[in-house]
Order: sequence, then C-alpha cells, then structure tokens
Amino acid sequence: MGSGSWHMEKRHSFKNEPVKDVEHVLENGSLSIVVLGASGDLAKKKTFPALFNLFQQGFLQPNEVHIFGYARTKISDDELRNRIRGYLVRDKGASPKDLEDVTKFLQLIKYVSGSYDTEEGFRLLDKEISETEVLRNGVDGLSRRLFYLALPPSVYPSVCRMIRHCCMNKTDLGGWTRIVVEKPFGKDLESAEQLSTQIGELFEESQIYRIDHYLGKELVQNLIVFREDFGTEGRGGYFDEYGIIRDIIQNHLLQVLCLVAMEKPISLKPEHIRDEKVKVLQSVLPIEDDEVVLGQYDGYRDDPTVPDHSNTPTFSTVVLRIHNERWEGVPFILKAGKALNSRKAEIRVQFKDVPGDIFKCKKQGRNEFVIRLQPSEAMYMKLTVKQPGLEMSTVQSELDLSYGQRYQGVTIPEAYERLILDTIRGDQQHFVRRDELKAAWEIFTPLLHRIDNGDLKPLPYKPGSRGPAEADALLEKAGYVQT
Ligand code: NDP
Ligand code: BG6
Repeated sequence: MGSGSWHMEKRHSFKNEPVKDVEHVLENGSLSIVVLGASGDLAKKKTFPALFNLFQQGFLQPNEVHIFGYARTKISDDELRNRIRGYLVRDKGASPKDLEDVTKFLQLIKYVSGSYDTEEGFRLLDKEISETEVLRNGVDGLSRRLFYLALPPSVYPSVCRMIRHCCMNKTDLGGWTRIVVEKPFGKDLESAEQLSTQIGELFEESQIYRIDHYLGKELVQNLIVFREDFGTEGRGGYFDEYGIIRDIIQNHLLQVLCLVAMEKPISLKPEHIRDEKVKVLQSVLPIEDDEVVLGQYDGYRDDPTVPDHSNTPTFSTVVLRIHNERWEGVPFILKAGKALNSRKAEIRVQFKDVPGDIFKCKKQGRNEFVIRLQPSEAMYMKLTVKQPGLEMSTVQSELDLSYGQRYQGVTIPEAYERLILDTIRGDQQHFVRRDELKAAWEIFTPLLHRIDNGDLKPLPYKPGSRGPAEADALLEKAGYVQT
C-alpha cells in the first residue's frame, strides 16, 4: 500500500482531557438505564460489565442511577443479579475490593419480564422507572431514560414502538429518552433503509445511537487487518445468515477506514466528523470481483446450526478504492477472518518505495506505520535505518510506542464503557448516523448479493492458517509488501 502524507495528529483526539468542542451538559436527576435483552449474551458479557466499570469509576452515581433489565425470560431480580455477579467474579476475575463494589452495583439493578411486542410489560417497566424517578427526584427533577437494545434486530421495530408508546421520559419534567441499537443494522441496503425508516418514524436522529463498538476502542483512529483465532462455535446460526462481510467488514473495518481516510473536519463536533466520514464512503468506487477473496474454513459446516451447503464466507479480503484527490491509486485492503492463526486487529499504513533508490545494499522492506488496536495496544513505525557501525548498510528498526510500557498502570477503558458514557452525555461522535449507514450498505450490497446468489464462492482454508493463499496473492497484486 502506498500513501501520501498523512497527518493523524490533526484529526484525532489522543488526549487525556475530554474533547472541548463537544458540549457535555452536566445533568443531574434520575438516570434510568434499561437493558432490553438482559437475559442474553451481549448483556452479560459487555453491557452489564461496562455499566459496572462506569459505576466503579464514579460515572454512575448510586443516588442518581437505576438499572433495569428487561426480557421475556421469567427470572427474579436476584437471579439476574447472580448471573451478572457470576460473570464479573468468575470470568472477569474481580478482586476482593471489586467484590464490595459488585455488591453495591447489583443493588441498583431490577428486572422486569415482558414480551417485546405487547404493551403490558412495557407499561410495567414504565411504572417501575417512574417510581424510582419520583423516589430520586421528588416530582420535579430530570427524567433521563436510556434504552439499550441488546436484542436481535428482528424485534427492534416493535420494541421501539413500545418504548415510544409506553416508556418515554416525562417531558414536562425535562430530560430525555435515547435508544442504543446494536449491529447488524439490516442485511443490505434495502433492509437497512427499511429499519431506519421504521425507527426514524418513532425517534429523532438525535435520540438514536447506532453502536459500532470499534469506534469505542482506544486506538481506533486508523486502519486495518482483523484476524481471529476462533471460529463461529456457538453462533453458527447467526453467523451463517450474515457472514464475515456483514459481521465485521461492512461495519467495524469500514468505520475505521473512514477515520483513517477522512479529511480534517471543521471541528470536533459530532456532525462535522460524521459529515467527513460520509464523504469518504460516498467516494468509494464499486468493488471489483477480482479484488475480493472469500474463504470458508474447513469444518465450518460441521456445526449443526450451519446448513450442509452453506456458501457463507468466514474470511474475506476486499480491496477498496477511494476516488478523491488524496487517495487516488491507494488500495485500502480490508481483511477479516474467523479461525485464523492469531487474534488481532491492526491498521497498517505502508509507505511507497522512494524512486531512484541510491542504496545498493539489500532492501530491508517498506517503511510502515502500524496501529495495533488489540491485543496489547501499540503504535509503531517500522523504518529503514543505517546499521550502526563503520559499514554503510541498512537494517529495519522500529520506533515503538507500546501502551503497556509507556502508560504503565493506566487502565484502558473497554469500548462499551466509553460508548455508554457518550450516550449518557448526548455525544453522538462515535455513533453511526443514518446517512453513513446507508452509504456503507451501498458499498457492499452488490457484492453481498452476488455472494448470496452463489455467483461468488468461498475458497477453503485450514483452521489456524492465514486464510486462503489467494488472499496473500491479492495483497501482493494490490502492491502490499510483507514486511
Ligand atoms: P442473544 O441471542 O443472546 O439475544 C438477546 C436476548 O434477546 C435473549 O436473551 C432473548 O431474551 C432475546 N431473544 C433472542 N432471540 C430472540 C428472538 N428471535 N425474538 C425475540 N427475542 C429474542 O443475542 P446477543 O446478546 O448475542 O446479541 C444482542 C444484539 O447485539 C444482537 O443484535 C447482536 O447482533 C448484537 N451483538 C452481539 C455481540 C455479542 O458478542 N454477543 C457483539 C456485537 C453485537 P428473552 O428470550 O429472555 O426475551
Ligand atoms: C462482533 C462480531 O461485532 O465483533 C464478532 O459479531 C467479532 O464476530 C467481534 O468477533 C469482534 O470484537 P472484538 O472487540 O473482540 O474485536
């Protein structure tokens, strides 16, 4: 990959202090956080732990916050609390100090059971929320209600309708109602637009927070290789309907691409940043079939929830081309896969070789800027320097900013923590706007339809490998040099 100049420091906020351009209104009064789908996997593994971390760091004050779990499963408050405690203690390894905080945190949680498409449960939920608001505020305080939809997208429209009809904040008391929706937002352009219209009829865009947790990662300010060392075990049913492009590339990687490729926004205001991202997406050229490699790992179809003849890709490398003045001729390679040789997410910006090289010695590889999002967050520059000593020869070396070393003792927040806090503060900078979503689907829908129709077939690859060999050949053809 070649690159022109690229001024990361001008665009992004690697800062300790909060971004000043975003006006965080300090609000007091009752804050109710409702986790819909509280019995599910995401709620257990991500949403409740993120809320716990925010609580522990003092962002959620016990005299203001109440947390509600809502789902169809009939369990008591204590059963939900025990599930959350179990996950925080067993899986996250809470320390003795944490245990005290876990107990205090769990006291904030109540559970309401009900269906997703009838008013009864939502009326009950509203009653519970209103009671805590009166308890916290008296009758004239703020009523802030955050609904987190940790649910399959099929129920988003009915759940949004129920919230709109039964659970809105009491506007005469002031405050707000916001909803957070998870990916996948649709399966293609048409279904995503339909979903956006349905939700858009019920809520203003400023109330809708489309979450892409990659935007909450500390080092997500740049671009892209995404590899996972685990397969789709336990989620084969979901995965087979979506595939790697809808699961990771169309959302997480494309969002990161936007942050790398966008021009400097007018300011750090959320709308200004998102305006620039939309321009990048709208400048992406249609994807060529010969710039795509699809793969499916051997054994994927052994999962009983995956059809025997599934054509779903579990791996893909896609080259995107941005048709604008800055990026003309620069390939953007997005690569993601399941069951590969390692688990990592990285952005690699490779610089062009200098024409007319005057060094006769053996080439040491390209200069390359790497941003490792995970694991072990780091930014490093691989560059060619003179081999120290009397001889004139070159060697490849690194300027290394490894966060673990440079920021010892600093805890890097989980993506979901940051994003939930942003929602409470009303900051939509790290959320996907409706026109962004549409532009993202426009890029991938034709390719996805060709795959869904069976016109393009995934190549087999071995679990634990780098993916199909053809993917490396595509990288090479695009001009990327393995360093
Ligand atoms: P689950 O399958 O665990 O579903 C969450 C809850 O929704 C379940 O506990 C169940 O609650 C209810 N539910 C499940 N299926 C249906 C259905 N067909 N109709 C109505 N209700 C249903 O999902 P996850 O928690 O894994 O994910 C939730 C959302 O987050 C999804 O949109 C997913 O794509 C997204 N997501 C998940 C990630 C993860 O790591 N799990 C990562 C990124 C995004 P009950 O039966 O009690 O009502
Ligand atoms: C989710 C995808 O959105 O992101 C998963 O559905 C993927 O398939 C996950 O594993 C990756 O997130 P992270 O934060 O573990 O890199």
